[in-house]
This record gives sequence, C-alpha cells and structure tokens, in this order.
Amino acid sequence: MKIEEEYTIRGFYRKIIRLEKVEEEFTIEDSKEPFVIPTETVYGLAARIDSDYAIKKIFEIKGRPSDNPLIVHISSLDMLDLLIEGEIPNEYKRLMEVFWPGPLSLVFKANKTISKCICGEGSDTVAIRMPKNPMLLRLIDKIGVPLAAPSANRSGRPSPTSVQHSIEDLGDKVSVYVDGGVCEIGIESTVVGMVESMPVILRPGGVTLEALEEVLGRRVGLRNTIQLNEKVMCPGQKYKHYSPSVPVYLFKGEDWVEDMKRVGKELEGKLIGLMGTGDMRNKVCVAKYYNLGDDKKECSRHIFRGLIELEKTCDVIFIKAFSLEDEGLAIMDRINRATTTIIE
Ligand code: TXA
Ligand code: MG
Repeated sequence: MKIEEEYTIRGFYRKIIRLEKVEEEFTIEDSKEPFVIPTETVYGLAARIDSDYAIKKIFEIKGRPSDNPLIVHISSLDMLDLLIEGEIPNEYKRLMEVFWPGPLSLVFKANKTISKCICGEGSDTVAIRMPKNPMLLRLIDKIGVPLAAPSANRSGRPSPTSVQHSIEDLGDKVSVYVDGGVCEIGIESTVVGMVESMPVILRPGGVTLEALEEVLGRRVGLRNTIQLNEKVMCPGQKYKHYSPSVPVYLFKGEDWVEDMKRVGKELEGKLIGLMGTGDMRNKVCVAKYYNLGDDKKECSRHIFRGLIELEKTCDVIFIKAFSLEDEGLAIMDRINRATTTIIE
C-alpha cells in the first residue's frame, strides 16, 4: 500500500502535488500552513515570510531550537531588494551572477521588517538563496512573497532528498507536499557570510570552497566550528544533526579495511550496513551495502539517502572518511555530525 493511501484510510488529510502541476493545483489556501517543497539541494518545509503564524509553526513541526535562523527563498532579484538593507557587497554580486539560481545562501544585513523568527533573536542578518528549479520559482512567484524554508525533517534527523523521505519523517504534521522527485544536489546549500570584509563559508554545502575561490579569485574563509565566547556565526552548526536512528561508525585510518573487519567481528550478531564508494563492496563483507557512487559529486547526492535507507534495515552503519577537497568538505561536515563512534 502506498503511504498516501494508508494515511487517507487512517483519516489524515494529505495533498501531494507533482511539481509539474504545482501552478494549477497549489492554492493560496495551501500556503497558509507550512508545506513541503522540493529544491535542488534537499526538500524544504516552507512558510510564507509574511505569515508569523506559519513561520512559528515550522519551528513547532520540526522541534527546531528557536535560535536557529531560517533561509529565505526568492524567485527574483526584486524580492531580494525588499529583504535586505544597504548595498550588496561586490563579491556577493559576482557570486550571485555565477551561482544563482543554485545551492548558495548568502547572509545579508536584514531589512527591519523581517520577522525575528527568521533572522534569529538578536541577529540583524538574513540568509537568502534563489533555488534552481524553474517550477519552484514559478510557485514562489504565484504566492507572491518569498518562502522561509529549513530542511523538511524533524530537527536532528538526516535531510530528505525525496518527498517519500519527508513524508516518513514529518507524516501528518504537514498536509501539503509538493513532489519534485529526487534532489539533484542531495546536500544543503553552502552558507556564505562576510566577516571583516572576507567571504567566509559558515556551512559547507552544494557549492564547493574551490568553486567560490575560483570565481572570486581570492581565498575564502571557512568557519564551521563554533568556539566558546565567539559570536555564533551560523547557529545551525552548533547542533548535533543528521543522526539516523542507529549508531554510525566513521573509519578515518589508512587501515580502514582491517579496522572494519575487526570492529565488524566485535559487533558480531549485529547487521552492519556499509555506505561505500567505488570498489569498496569487494573489500569488506557486510550484511548490506549502499553504493554512494563513484565520485564525490555522486556521493554527496546520495549521502542522506544512504543514512535513511540503511537505518531501516541495519543495526549499525559503517562509513569511510572522505578527503576534504571539493564536495568532501560538505560530505564530511554531514558525516561528522551523524557519527557516534570514530575509528582512527
Ligand atoms: O539547501 C538548503 O539550504 C536547504 C533548502 C531547503 O533550501 N535549507 C536548509 O535550511 O538547509 P536549514 O534550516 O536546515 O539550515 C539553515 C542553515 C542553518 O545552519 C542556519 O543556522 C544557517 O543556515 N543560517 C540561516 N540564517 C542565517 C543567518 N542569518 N546567519 C548565519 N547562518 C544562518
Ligand atoms: Mg536542516
């Protein structure tokens, strides 16, 4: 039985709209409550930014800490002008030309009219991005106001990259889901802010550090750990995240094959799922193998899917560390947060 049918039988109202049909089937009434949207990165739980009610409800549905600000999704540069204050930094202009629409969120000085729930208490900035999917941009146009949207999962859980994963996580807490198939990027947007006139990555994501540096022709900083007494630059980064319901073992050592065999023996009786790449399948014998793909781009697309699929059937998940170049930085950011045990 399909999930939609099962829920209808149990008496919940659920509207699932195919993205191609969203212009006709999505009504303004549907935008009064939070609803799930597909983006090229991950699925988002969206609220119109002019509805304090819907914005607050996002926090309630996700169980999200109230100090974690939201990313605002726009469909045009006219919308951007209404959200920010002051000049757009020149380096942002360059990044917007190259990466918008796309998986890059930029932190701007916020216009005073924007709800504190979006910027975060005590903060005067707002993170903004223009998502890539043309039909989603048309939906934002139709609604006529930008959408604030965190990932469409309960706080702490892996982000959904298909409508099915979002339904499994949020279920009947949300009644309107827009289905755009499987997300192309599979990992959230890169969040970039200006710190003392230097562009700094506050959360690694779909646009790599190397790509940003190439476009700007200068070094880009990276701040993904929050130190005590330091102003919190990206509140989301201080929380534990992306945790599946089973333990995740991260293998960092050169002798990872031997290490996996040894730890596998110690865990005798437990069903081990390995998220692997390339020819790893032939090197270690495990109950379940989830193939992330052959290169880092593919692996980043499948990382959340792998965690969500393996937790359904396995007792523990094994994964080998990636090097930090290119997509590896964002992949390791997510894996480090999902990990319960590190094997060095
Ligand atoms: O790809 C994405 O960015 C997805 C899709 C749905 O667009 N959204 C997403 O939202 O990942 P969320 O809420 O799961 O993560 C937003 C991150 C958090 O780490 C938050 O702290 C940071 O962005 N953030 C939001 N507003 C910020 C701001 N004004 N300054 C610094 N960091 C901010
Ligand atoms: Mg999230």
